[in-house]
Amino acid sequence: MAKETSPFLTDVKTLRERARKHIEQGAVTEGYKLDRQKVVALLNEALATEIVCVLRYKRHFFMASGINAQSVAQEFLQHANEEQAHADQIAQRIVQLGGEPNFSPEGMLSRSHSEYVEGTGLIDMIKEDLVAERVAIDSYRDMIAYTGAGDPTTRRMLEGILAMEEEHAEDLVTLLEELGR
Ligand SMILES: [Fe+2]
Ligand SMILES: [Fe+2]
Repeated sequence: MAKETSPFLTDVKTLRERARKHIEQGAVTEGYKLDRQKVVALLNEALATEIVCVLRYKRHFFMASGINAQSVAQEFLQHANEEQAHADQIAQRIVQLGGEPNFSPEGMLSRSHSEYVEGTGLIDMIKEDLVAERVAIDSYRDMIAYTGAGDPTTRRMLEGILAMEEEHAEDLVTLLEELGR
C-alpha cells in the first residue's frame, strides 16, 4: 500500500530529519519561511518605536500639571509601563529569532516610527501621544500583514501589541473629549 502523504503538511520523516539539522538555531527551523534578517530589522524598528514612546510618555507624566493633571498623568504613566512591556516582548522575540535587540541610543529616533514631541500643556501632550499611537497602529498593521503565515508567533505578538495601541488611542481620545477638546 502506497504511503499516504498529506497534500500540504510536511511528512513526519522529513520533519524529523530537518529538526536534527542546525539545532544551534533553536526555535528557528528550516520551515521558517520569512527573511529572518528582515523580520529582525522590522522588530528593531518596532523596539525603537516603543522605547521612544516610553520616553515621551514618561516626560508627559512628569510634566503634567494643572487642574486635570492627576488623572491624565496616571494614564500617561500606565501607557509608559505598557509600552515598556511591549519593548521587552519585542526584544525577547528578536533574540529568539537569532538576532540582537538594538538598544543603542544612537539613531534611536531615526529607527523609531513615531516621533518624540514634548508638547506644551496637557492637551498638546495628549494630542501628540494620540498621533504617535496612530503611527504605531498603522505600522503594526503593516508588520502583521508582512509576517502573515510565515511567522505566526511574531504575528500573534504583534497582534496583541496592536490591540493595546488601539486601546491607548481610544483612551487618549476619551481624555480629549472629557477635557472638552
Ligand atoms: Fe506599545
Ligand atoms: Fe501605545
